[in-house]
Amino acid sequence: MNEKKSILITGGAGFIGSNLCEYFLSKNYRVVCLDNLATGHLYNIEPFFSNNNFTFIEGDIRDLETCNKAVEKIDYVLHQAALGSVPRSLKDPITSNDVNVSGFLNMLVASRDAGVKRFVYAASSSTYGDSESLPKVEEIIGKPLSPYAITKYVNELYADIFSKAYGLETIGLRYFNVFGRKQDPNGAYAAVIPKFVMQLMNYESPVINGDGNYSRDFTYIDNVIQMNELAMLTENPEAINTVYNTAFGDRTTLNQMVSLLKEYLSEFDKKIGDVEVVHGPNRAGDIPHSLASIDKAKKLLNYNPQFSFGNGLKEAVRWYWENLKNN
Ligand SMILES: NC(=O)c1ccc[n+]([C@@H]2O[C@H](COP(=O)([O-])OP(=O)(O)OC[C@H]3O[C@@H](n4cnc5c(N)ncnc54)[C@H](O)[C@@H]3O)[C@@H](O)[C@H]2O)c1
Repeated sequence: MNEKKSILITGGAGFIGSNLCEYFLSKNYRVVCLDNLATGHLYNIEPFFSNNNFTFIEGDIRDLETCNKAVEKIDYVLHQAALGSVPRSLKDPITSNDVNVSGFLNMLVASRDAGVKRFVYAASSSTYGDSESLPKVEEIIGKPLSPYAITKYVNELYADIFSKAYGLETIGLRYFNVFGRKQDPNGAYAAVIPKFVMQLMNYESPVINGDGNYSRDFTYIDNVIQMNELAMLTENPEAINTVYNTAFGDRTTLNQMVSLLKEYLSEFDKKIGDVEVVHGPNRAGDIPHSLASIDKAKKLLNYNPQFSFGNGLKEAVRWYWENLKNN
């Protein structure tokens, strides 16, 4: 009889990690979540506590012993734990580096020593840095524009060396502006979509940095879950020990994004359609446009994203309305 497979999801109490926990529990895997709750929340994982297949370890990836304990009897690692946000890394580069680089290295060492089958990790579109070419293809990157971007690029370099030197199977997923249910709308470093949804629900004007013509390849969480599953399970030898853009492959301007948000939220409360948008100065370190080529993931992993930006946004808006309207 096949043994149940075990997955360690670091950062499993965060936005992407808790969605991965939920998905893989629904697929009947054993799931271990390692998180120090720095930016994640217990309420994201509390619904899983009654599931016998779920284990939560409250701990820090900066501690190698904790990592060693977490990878015991683990088949696959989905490494999501990191301190996100470009502005946060500009304010405190040392902590971002400790968590995102030293913590990452600890997880690689622990995974290697435990003999895990594969190490799939959250990389980032910020690795494209100042490269102006569009769409972004995996081989062409520029210079990093922030400490955060450096940490995410260093992750790729370390993963590559661990594949070559120790035979650890690794796959990096360069996420592009992920959004969806459970993304935290609060705090100084909140992502733009949940922040704007909460403001609009409270009739507050969202502030767009710049004229709103900057564009992003906003990627719905379910497409990201699909990429993690494909990366974890692929048996194509050409598909491993490399990195993939993880996106929908289309771009939307900030102005278009806010118009759609207002339109979808107006279906719940007509008054939201009248909230005015405000424009502020451009933010340092922001690139004008971001758009992924997803050809490599389609070809090597059979990636087939199911949610366009608009369809995903509709789902996300409904989730925020039903879960956080009165917060
Ligand atoms: N959300 C995006 O658009 C996006 C884009 C590119 C890359 N990423 C990457 O995806 C991953 C998940 O991001 P997210 O959006 O879910 O962010 P998040 O902040 O919701 O999740 C990160 C999780 O890591 C945990 N964590 C932080 N430091 C830790 C430590 N020292 N030890 C253990 N756990 C720790 C946090 O508590 C949190 O639960 C991160 O690696 C991030 O850099 C996200």
